[in-house]
Amino acid sequence: MSALEIPTSSDQPSSEDDLAATLPALLARSYARYSNFTVACAVIDETGRAHLGVNVENAAYPSGTCAEQTAIGAMVTAGGRGIARVLIAAGSDGVVQPCGACRQRIAEFADDGCEIVSVQGGKITRRLPFWSLLPDSFGPGDLDR
Ligand code: THU
Repeated sequence: MSALEIPTSSDQPSSEDDLAATLPALLARSYARYSNFTVACAVIDETGRAHLGVNVENAAYPSGTCAEQTAIGAMVTAGGRGIARVLIAAGSDGVVQPCGACRQRIAEFADDGCEIVSVQGGKITRRLPFWSLLPDSFGPGDLDR
């Protein structure tokens, strides 16, 4: 599938392997004008639907957004309210874990079993429990007490 044929949010469940195979093509949509470091992300929501994002940089550098943030925005816009998986691919083809700010954004929606899934060359190469990356965190539950 060419990048232009990839829908931002799927309306039916997507398999992790199919999404992993899609992410390298999605990197072509990244807007990484300043760093040239392209990142593509797919979040799988609580219904199994996938929502895609790329990093979107900005001439005012701190105004840029990470691929995870873009994908979470697509998920919420499509009605998703829980994250089961976060797949991440980088143009460097190295393993990229979510930055600190993105960990907080993922935490807002992450299921107990949420995993960060690394994609290299269109294949899944690593899998980490999300909550191992952000233990003892502040979250929505703190505001309910
Ligand atoms: N970036 C992401 O999109 N996700 C990450 O998890 C790490 C970093 C982006 C932000 C910026 O556009 C570029 O990578 C270099 O930091």
